[in-house]
Amino acid sequence: MTGSASGIGAAVRAHLEKAGHRVIGVDLRDADVTADLSTADGRAHAIAEITRLSEGTLDGFLPFAGVAAATGRPGDLLVSVNYFGAIAVLEGILPLLRNSESASVVLVSSNSTTTQPNWPVDLAEACLAGDEARAREIANSFGEWGAIQAYPATKAALAWYARTRSAELIKDGIRINAIAPGIIDTPMTQEGSTDPLTGAGMKGFLDQTPIGRAGRPEEIAELAGFLISDRASFFVGSVIFCDGGIDAAFRGKDW
Ligand code: NAI
Repeated sequence: MTGSASGIGAAVRAHLEKAGHRVIGVDLRDADVTADLSTADGRAHAIAEITRLSEGTLDGFLPFAGVAAATGRPGDLLVSVNYFGAIAVLEGILPLLRNSESASVVLVSSNSTTTQPNWPVDLAEACLAGDEARAREIANSFGEWGAIQAYPATKAALAWYARTRSAELIKDGIRINAIAPGIIDTPMTQEGSTDPLTGAGMKGFLDQTPIGRAGRPEEIAELAGFLISDRASFFVGSVIFCDGGIDAAFRGKDW
């Protein structure tokens, strides 16, 4: 898995290890494999190290590394970490997943895809088409709003990837699904809550969340642990919202 050092990823790692799995964690720090997934070199290093440490077979992959929306943060960083940092590594380790008798991949999308209006569809399309340069260019065209526009677009592209590639991957015995969390209490959202642009939006979101609170990383880890297991054997290409009810409240019958 990636993003294992913090927040949701750290909770997923703990959950999987408690269930008896061996986890190979990739992150910028405090991980089995230290790699910067925003770069081609970092991704190649991660793929090589995962290949070496797994000894040729992987039963699962959870690319959870991500960068949040924040005022002034370059949008291209989100394109390269959130989408390409996940998908390029996934595609590099497919041979290891094919060697498993039943492999599962869990991508992490977001309910910002359905609750944040007017995100750039062309950016998500460029991601899905594998055109990193074009996706980065579109993200940067929004200036200081780049990260705020790019975040839901990169997360939508991950959900689309799970849905559109699932039929092809299941032929090799690989189930791919995505989780779309709402606001989860992690270092990422703690940073976002103090941001001049995203802070107010996050507070408004929390106020409208039917359950009346942010989620806990362990609540996402439960779902990830289920989806990665054989207990979820009929889940293929699903995008599962886990958000305290806000997607349901916003969209009702319109999904
Ligand atoms: P976090 O900030 O606590 O953890 C993110 C991890 O990704 C960190 O360990 C960080 O070092 C790693 N990372 C960042 N850039 C990297 C890079 N270039 N190379 C390698 N690793 C890198 O964030 P959190 O909240 O745990 O988020 C985890 C995932 O869940 C992210 O993909 C995020 O977008 C997604 N998500 C989070 C939500 C939330 O409310 N916290 C809601 C919906 C989705």
